[in-house]
Amino acid sequence: MSNSPKFVIDGLKATIENKEILKGINLEIKGGEVHAIMGPNGTGKSTLASAIMGHPKYEVTEGTATLNGVDLLEMEVDERARAGVFLAMQYPSEITGVTNADFLRSAINAKREEGDEISLIKFIRKMEGKMGELEMNPEFMHRYLNEGFSGGEKKRNEILQMAMLDPSVVILDEVDSGLDIDALKIVADGVNNMRSEERGFLIITHYQRLLDYITPDFVHVMMQGRIVKSGGPELAERLESEGYDWIKEELGIEDETVGQEEEEFKMPMNTVAPEFK
Ligand SMILES: Nc1ncnc2c1ncn2[C@@H]1O[C@H](COP(=O)(O)OP(=O)(O)OP(=O)(O)O)[C@@H](O)[C@H]1O
Ligand SMILES: [Mg+2]
Repeated sequence: MSNSPKFVIDGLKATIENKEILKGINLEIKGGEVHAIMGPNGTGKSTLASAIMGHPKYEVTEGTATLNGVDLLEMEVDERARAGVFLAMQYPSEITGVTNADFLRSAINAKREEGDEISLIKFIRKMEGKMGELEMNPEFMHRYLNEGFSGGEKKRNEILQMAMLDPSVVILDEVDSGLDIDALKIVADGVNNMRSEERGFLIITHYQRLLDYITPDFVHVMMQGRIVKSGGPELAERLESEGYDWIKEELGIEDETVGQEEEEFKMPMNTVAPEFK
């Protein structure tokens, strides 16, 4: 039997504080595939990642997100991680009092049966090996999770977690933001080393430069809480050189952010408020 996963998002809608942010997302990611999601600020990309992972602030109102036919949205948050979904967040949280090693060891053991926990020595060897590949200072093993980590150190640490947890679906939200050029290559190598038929990737990014190192199979553009355009790597290249205006023109979109387009009144462009006339 093949271990190749199939992750399907179907008609996903989600609200935050009663405001609809995701307006029907459809996406299918198979093992071995890398999908990139791009899109202007405030169009729902991080919301999509959070909704899949079960962030309590987001309420899914319609649709499903299934991994190998099982609906993740019916699961508790920790079950989703155990089922093999991993999210590297745009803004990883700091957890004082829990070391990086403690955190990862518990996360690995949570995925294993009772009595089959990873031995301390095996765990340390694995963590040291992965930290070496990511050129991380060994002291990060015993630092509190993300506490005082620089922006780039946090991102590298997210990739360490991914490498340690061996997930089937990997969602990376702006894992390239704030990385220096060398770190960007290291992170990209970390992802490329993990590419296999046993894993699918969803990479949210603003920049072609990450995709220069991690060649995506599909590129999707998100606007107004929907995927409005999909293509291959050439789509990301066109966005890099031309921006988003051509897509907005093509689709007749004026404001690409979510939650604005349904407002009853819109101030027309070039309108001057009466008192300034
Ligand atoms: N907790 C929240 N409370 C209120 N509004 C929210 C909340 N979370 C998200 N939103 C709104 O939902 C919209 C989409 O946000 P989201 O973070 O998904 O955008 P994004 O596409 O990831 O943008 P960026 O590229 O800037 O990271 C934004 O208008 C944002 O302000
Ligand atoms: Mg975001």
